[in-house]
Amino acid sequence: MNTQTQPDRIIIFDTTLRDGEQSPGATLNVDEKLMIARQLARLGVDVIEAGFAFASPGDFEAVQKIAQTVGIESGPVICSLARAIRQDIKAAAEALKPAAHARIHTFISTSDIHLQYQLKKSRGEVLAIAEDMVAYAKSFMPDVEFSPMDAGRSELEFLYQVLERAIAAGATTINIPDTVGYTTPSEFGDLIRGIRENVPNISNAVLSVHGHNDLGLAVANFLEAVKNGARQLECTINGIGERAGNAALEELVMALHVRRQYFNPYLGRSVGSEEPLTNIDTRQIYKTSRLVSNLTGMLIQPNKAIVGSNAFAHESGIHQDGVLKNKLTYEIMDAHSIGISDNHIVLGKHSGRNAFRTRLKELGFDLSEQELNRAFVRFKDLADKKKEISDWDLEAIVKDETQTQVTDGYRLERVQVSCGDHACPTATVTLRTPSGEELTDAAIGTGPVDAVYRAINRVVEVPNQLIEFSVQSVTAGIDAIGEVTIRLQYGERIFSGHAANTDIIVASAQAYTNALNRLYSVLQQQGQSQPERESSGMEKASDPSIATVH
Ligand code: KIV
Ligand code: ZN
Repeated sequence: MNTQTQPDRIIIFDTTLRDGEQSPGATLNVDEKLMIARQLARLGVDVIEAGFAFASPGDFEAVQKIAQTVGIESGPVICSLARAIRQDIKAAAEALKPAAHARIHTFISTSDIHLQYQLKKSRGEVLAIAEDMVAYAKSFMPDVEFSPMDAGRSELEFLYQVLERAIAAGATTINIPDTVGYTTPSEFGDLIRGIRENVPNISNAVLSVHGHNDLGLAVANFLEAVKNGARQLECTINGIGERAGNAALEELVMALHVRRQYFNPYLGRSVGSEEPLTNIDTRQIYKTSRLVSNLTGMLIQPNKAIVGSNAFAHESGIHQDGVLKNKLTYEIMDAHSIGISDNHIVLGKHSGRNAFRTRLKELGFDLSEQELNRAFVRFKDLADKKKEISDWDLEAIVKDETQTQVTDGYRLERVQVSCGDHACPTATVTLRTPSGEELTDAAIGTGPVDAVYRAINRVVEVPNQLIEFSVQSVTAGIDAIGEVTIRLQYGERIFSGHAANTDIIVASAQAYTNALNRLYSVLQQQGQSQPERESSGMEKASDPSIATVH
C-alpha cells in the first residue's frame, strides 16, 4: 500500500504495538503481537509500527514476524522505530526485510531540555546526526520517517532547520511529536502551520503528528493539526501508551467520519463529499478495541468515547424516550458503524461444527483446524451450561482459547474451592509445570480467589504482588461468562492476564496463570529459569486483599 498517493486522505499510522506496548503492564508476547497486527490489517490501518527492533530479541522477532505475515503486497506498511543510531537503524532494516512495504522511523530529540540533560549534545551535533542517520536509513529503503522528539517544546527556528535537513537527506514522512502532551490545540495547529510555511522543502514529505494525552488534549490537538496540513496521524487503539497514553485511533477516526462535512474542505474536498477521510473499516473498531484490551490487560473505562461500555447506553428517561422515537435525537452515530452487533442469540446446544465454524468466519476469526477443534470443545462445554450462545460469548471463548495456549509455561489442570459463610475458604490446584510434571497444592485464604492464588503461588513460587483484579460479565444474565483481568507486579514490571469462563473462580485461576506465564517467559529470556526467591518465602506473593476490584 503506497501511503504517498492520496494527498486528500488521512494516513492512519498505528503505534499500539510500539508506543502502546510501552504502557506499564501492557507487555505482549510475539503471538499476541501477531494477533493484533492481523486485526489492525483487517481494520485497514495504513502503517503498523510493529515495534522497536533493536530493543530486545523479542522485539526484533515480533517486527520480523509481522513483516513476514502481515506485510504482504496488499497489506499495510510495516514500520520499526530506531533511535538515530547506526545499530538501531541496521536492526530495524534487517527485521523489516520480509515486508513488501517497509519503513524505518528514526528519531532524535530537538528540545533544549532534552539536548542538555538527556543527550548532552549541542544543536549543531543533533543537526548533523539527524541528517546522517536519515541518509543511513535511506540507504536501506526508500520509505523513511523522521521525528524530532519533544518537538512541542523545541525552539522553532532550530526545529525548522532540522526538518529541512532531514527531508533533504531523504525523509519521506516528517512526524511532529508532542512527546510530553504539553501543547494546546491552537498551539499545536500553529506549530504544524508554521512548519508548512517555514520549512522550504516540506512539500517533499508527508506531515505527520504524534501526541501524548497528559492533559487529555491529544485527539483535539490532532484534529487541529489536520486542519493545518497534517496528513498522517500516529495513534493507538484505546489510546494506550506511555503515561496517559496516545491519541486514540477510534476517537480520531470516528471524529473524521462523523464530522466529515466539517473536515472535508480542509482536505480540498467539497463539503458534501461522502468519500471516507481514512481507509479504516469502522465496523472493525469495536472488535479491535476488545482484542487489545484483553491481550494487554488494559481495561476500558465505561465512559470512554466510542468503545466504552456506556458509549451507546441511554440511562435517563428523557433520552430513552427520545431515542425510541428517533435515534438521532440523542445519537450522533450508530453502534453498528463501529461493529457492535445486536448480540444476536446465534447458537445453542444442538448447533453443529459447521454452524460454529461459519459463525466464527462471519465474525472474522480465521482459525486453524486445531484451534477450531479446541474452540469447539469449549463451545460445547459452554452450551451445556448456558442455553443460548451469543456472538459476544463466541468472541470471549475464542480469544480466551488463543490466549491460554502456552507452549512453554505452566498449565492449569484443575482447580477446586470450598467456601461459604461458615467455612474457611480453601483451594486445591493442580498445575502442569513447563517440564511436564503435575504438581498439586492447597491453601486457605480470605476468600475463594485469595485461596486459589495462594495455592498457585505455592506451586509456581514466583514472588509477585497482585495490583489489580477485575471481573466483568460478557452478557447479561445469571449464566453469563465472566471475564477476569488481573495485573501483577514483579520488581518494577507489571504483567497482565485475562481469561473467560462461566465459573469466575476458574477464570480467576486461569487469568492468574496466564499472567504468571508472561512473567515466567520474561525471566526465561533473561536467562533466569527461576526468579530470585525472597528469603521469607511467599510473603511478597499476591495478596488479593490489596487488589483494586472494579
Ligand atoms: O512520544 C514520542 O516522542 C515518541 C517518538 C519516538 C515519536 O514516541
Ligand atoms: Zn510517543
